[in-house]
Amino acid sequence: MASAFQVQPIDATFGAVVTGARLATIDDATLLDLHATWLEYALLVFPGQNLRREEQIAFAKRFGPLEIEMAVISNVKADGSLRVEADSDDVVKILKGNMGWHADSTYMPLQAKGAVFSAEVVPRSEGQTGWADMRAAYDALDAATKGSVGTLSAYHSLHYSQSKLGHVAKKGSEYHGYGLHDGPVPLRPLVKTHPETGRKSLLIGRHAHAIPGMEFDDSERFLEELTTFACQAPRTYHHQWTPGDTVIWDNRCLLHRAMPWDMAEARVMVHSRIAGDPVSEAALA
Ligand code: OGA
Ligand code: MN
Repeated sequence: MASAFQVQPIDATFGAVVTGARLATIDDATLLDLHATWLEYALLVFPGQNLRREEQIAFAKRFGPLEIEMAVISNVKADGSLRVEADSDDVVKILKGNMGWHADSTYMPLQAKGAVFSAEVVPRSEGQTGWADMRAAYDALDAATKGSVGTLSAYHSLHYSQSKLGHVAKKGSEYHGYGLHDGPVPLRPLVKTHPETGRKSLLIGRHAHAIPGMEFDDSERFLEELTTFACQAPRTYHHQWTPGDTVIWDNRCLLHRAMPWDMAEARVMVHSRIAGDPVSEAALA
């Protein structure tokens, strides 16, 4: 059967640009095709969708229950003024935290399945979003490293990753504190098997730390080296946004990050976070 949409692979180990489909009105048969395409490419970019926020939420729900219906990732305050880097408030610290390679909600009991993410307002330059293919990164490891990472795990914490930016959670802070809860810190394997494709991938990123069985500093160095190796061409893609673009990414096998921009300019992105499956995205402990 001819597909109802066109798929143009991105020049990387993953990712494709999809045209010819209107996400707000896509039928069930086309959605099945699109789901299969998503599993294969892990990142799909849909230029020019101009989804309304409720249309984005409805589209995201077709991939499963949502962990977060809509988070607005933005440096625009409620009164319309801009948060600039020098403000260095908790929201700026979260925005800057997003600039480190990460997977979403690995610090929660259930890591996310994926995200539908759209650009509403973009700066004149920079402010791209980057993704890195942790399936290809795993495949590219030498045999010895592959063997050793397969036996390791790491703790994932937003307190840990944000503390590196001087962000210490305090009661009554402006940032509502999602992920900055007290309680057990999830332990996750360094190698994740994708529940739908069976492919292995590295599960690392800025929230990962304190590999059990290693000295803390050795674990830091090991994870940093692994991330540097993993997040390199041809395993990365950075998208230059145009307002109205929508993407969907698979958080079970990609890392992502925001790129810096001049915060004297507005950047408004909307994020609908698809919940992980308790069977496959729960922490080890
Ligand atoms: C996120 C995120 C990156 C960006 O929304 O989870 O990491 O480019 N965003 O804003
Ligand atoms: Mn993120």
